[in-house]
Amino acid sequence: MSTAPRCDRTVAWGALKGHFEAHGRDLDLREAFARDPGRFASFAVQAPQVFADLSKNRWDLATRQLLLDLARECGLEARRDAMLAGEPINTTEGRAVLHTALRAPAGQGPFSTEVHEVLNRMLAYAETVRDTAASGIRHVVNIGIGGSDLGPQMVVPALDAFVHPAITMHFVSNVDGHDITPVLRGLKPAETLFIIASKTFTTQETMANAQVARDWFVANGGTDVDKHFVATTTNIEAAAKFGIGTTFGFWDWVGGRYSLWSAIGLPIAIAIGSEHFRALLAGAHAMDRHFATAPLNENLPALLGLLDVWYRNFHGFSSRSVAPYHQGLKRLPAYLQQLEMESNGKQVDLAGEPLPFGTSPVVWGEPGTNGQHAYFQMLHQGTDVIPVEFIAVKTPTHAHADLHRKLLANCLAQSQALMLGKTTDAALGEKAPTASAELDAETVARHRTFPGNRPSITLVLDRLTPESLGALIALYEHRVFTSGVVWGINSFDQWGVELGKALCNDLLPRLSSGETQGLDGSTAGLLKRLTAA
Ligand code: F6P
Repeated sequence: MSTAPRCDRTVAWGALKGHFEAHGRDLDLREAFARDPGRFASFAVQAPQVFADLSKNRWDLATRQLLLDLARECGLEARRDAMLAGEPINTTEGRAVLHTALRAPAGQGPFSTEVHEVLNRMLAYAETVRDTAASGIRHVVNIGIGGSDLGPQMVVPALDAFVHPAITMHFVSNVDGHDITPVLRGLKPAETLFIIASKTFTTQETMANAQVARDWFVANGGTDVDKHFVATTTNIEAAAKFGIGTTFGFWDWVGGRYSLWSAIGLPIAIAIGSEHFRALLAGAHAMDRHFATAPLNENLPALLGLLDVWYRNFHGFSSRSVAPYHQGLKRLPAYLQQLEMESNGKQVDLAGEPLPFGTSPVVWGEPGTNGQHAYFQMLHQGTDVIPVEFIAVKTPTHAHADLHRKLLANCLAQSQALMLGKTTDAALGEKAPTASAELDAETVARHRTFPGNRPSITLVLDRLTPESLGALIALYEHRVFTSGVVWGINSFDQWGVELGKALCNDLLPRLSSGETQGLDGSTAGLLKRLTAA
């Protein structure tokens, strides 16, 4: 396995530290653009389906070179190749990491026979459901959580223009009954298909909601559980025990948050059809090839992952905001939260040694322009610098050209405003009709000053299609992989979710009994408050 040094023990890390002090901390984007008319071109990267403008970032060509040196010293290429070859790089679980095999064309990539057998069967099944005259299905309810929910829940609205017009997709994830109750309201068993999506088929939330769904189905006259319930899981035995005969399997080398390309993508396949699902896979595969073969200085996932390291560990930015200027991508920030934060929210390296530097940033966001009217105030004038990631789509799938021009103008204006800012002098020279007449002009101008020099990335897709979305998602996967390799962590386990699960199992019976013995004072007090008659 990897013999590469951890990032903070490399020569490049030391060089980056020196470079940051000399040229990084105080780099001013406005000056950088004034000095170099070729800056946009120097930091423009074209990957399959995705163009990236990285020029509005607080780095220069020397930074990029040093980050590339860092990637090489940390063994990024060797580790990438090990992942793609199916080596067990998820060392804490002794597993390979092969979501890329799920989108490799038949005959290419590891486990091709198994992958394509399930894919073909799943897509054929999806087509039978989509034949609504024969299937009678009008509603599909996906019950799953985390990676068994967030991918399909993000992709289906993103590809709304491609979705079957007579089938409504629903997603239930939370063990809170307020999630499933409104979904079931108004549904008819004969017209409804439930997909129970769980890699392990043991997850509390999913099993509990599946039980509620089955009880509802039977109580409302449903007769054929076998026809109206399917499972997507690696645990086919448990699904059978639950009474589900139709199952689509996958394998332990598919991580939950990397699983939308597997049988977990069944709701996507039903929504958009087999041809479009294959296009989604093809788009991701094209990005896989780019990541595998493009030289690192033109390799978009690698460059983004390295920029993330630069911001997190040198500039000290602990958060990144994602602003998709496409309403269809409204669930992308939530999807990326799991992808990035569950993958790279780690505090020890591969050898279990505590890390002396920060790892995953907080990833958050909302679609533009909505975010502009909520938290963008803080991005422009707050005390923290938060790099923003804009995603723009050149051509919409709707016919409202005027709305789209306004959307794009807003997107460009925000990244421009973040970078350019506004000096107090400039603010002094402007009229501020809504400012209080009680205040002197200087004070008003200080409130209306923008520091600027706030960094952003802009990603541009020509159209949001199955293919471009596949490429975009794979881009993020490999970006997360890149920063994880540099940090020397295992991006593919998630032990951090275990403790809460175990404590929940202890607390659950106490919610009925009210027993508080052995609990800490706060939990005991809250439990009493929640269980009091
Ligand atoms: O939250 C932990 C986690 O294991 C995620 O990694 C996973 O995506 C989710 O739970 C759901 O797990 P399963 O698909 O096994 O129900």
